[in-house]
Amino acid sequence: MSKIKNIVVLTGAGISAESGIRTFRDTGGLWEDHSIEEVATPEGYAANPELVLGFYNARRAQLSSVEPNPAHTALSRLEKGLIGQGGYLTIVTQNVDDLHERGGAENVIHMHGELLSQWCRSCNHKFKSSESFTLQSQCPKCSAGGKVRPDIVWFGEMPYYMDTIEMSVTNCDLFVSIGTSGAVYPAAGYVQMARGLGKQTLEINLERSEGSHFFHETRLGKAGELVPAWVDEVLNG
Ligand code: OAD
Ligand code: ZN
Repeated sequence: MSKIKNIVVLTGAGISAESGIRTFRDTGGLWEDHSIEEVATPEGYAANPELVLGFYNARRAQLSSVEPNPAHTALSRLEKGLIGQGGYLTIVTQNVDDLHERGGAENVIHMHGELLSQWCRSCNHKFKSSESFTLQSQCPKCSAGGKVRPDIVWFGEMPYYMDTIEMSVTNCDLFVSIGTSGAVYPAAGYVQMARGLGKQTLEINLERSEGSHFFHETRLGKAGELVPAWVDEVLNG
């Protein structure tokens, strides 16, 4: 690969798997035990808000018992290394955990929202909290009760920061996808956008993703092993 300055990394649940967070579509994944319609759509929330709050409360509570793994910390090392070389790294994550940040990365875009962010549907206020929420929980700004929902992008809703992400892809030299099945759009389509713009593309995943054929190169294996090795290559190459 020629000298690379600016990189966009798209991450999915696979990068957090070795930290102990379940993925969605693998064997044993979250969508085996839970119906997407029930816990990851606005209609599901309207039908049974308690069930939905409980699902995200449990996932939020888990954050305090997991740690970033070598893939997260390697990306933080890459971010600092690229900045030192006059470039930059943009991490676009579909993950709602905070492991990129706890691994030391700063430029992280959460396109599907964050477990640690809450959203009041009465006054539109968004706020950080690691607590559990019930239908009795009040908004800290307008005091409305029962109106605080997880700040998570559900199916049928528009992902966040799409303009920023598209600009980052447009300005990058290399687009890398790590630990995502490529099943959910628009995230799954960024590789095609990158290819169309003439960018280099690389996939790092346990198995071939649905859009694997769009990538120039695919490396199969665990993110915790392959990502640190790839970061070394970029920074030393
Ligand atoms: P998936 O569960 O669909 O895919 C996870 C991918 O990670 C699979 O391709 C696995 O092979 C791979 N994988 C598992 N362990 C790995 C490891 N140790 N190292 C490398 N790769 C590994 O998760 P996502 O692609 O992130 O959206 O799912 C995308 C979106 O679908 C999520 O953001 C979520 C979900 O529904 C919403 O909830 C809106
Ligand atoms: Zn409010």
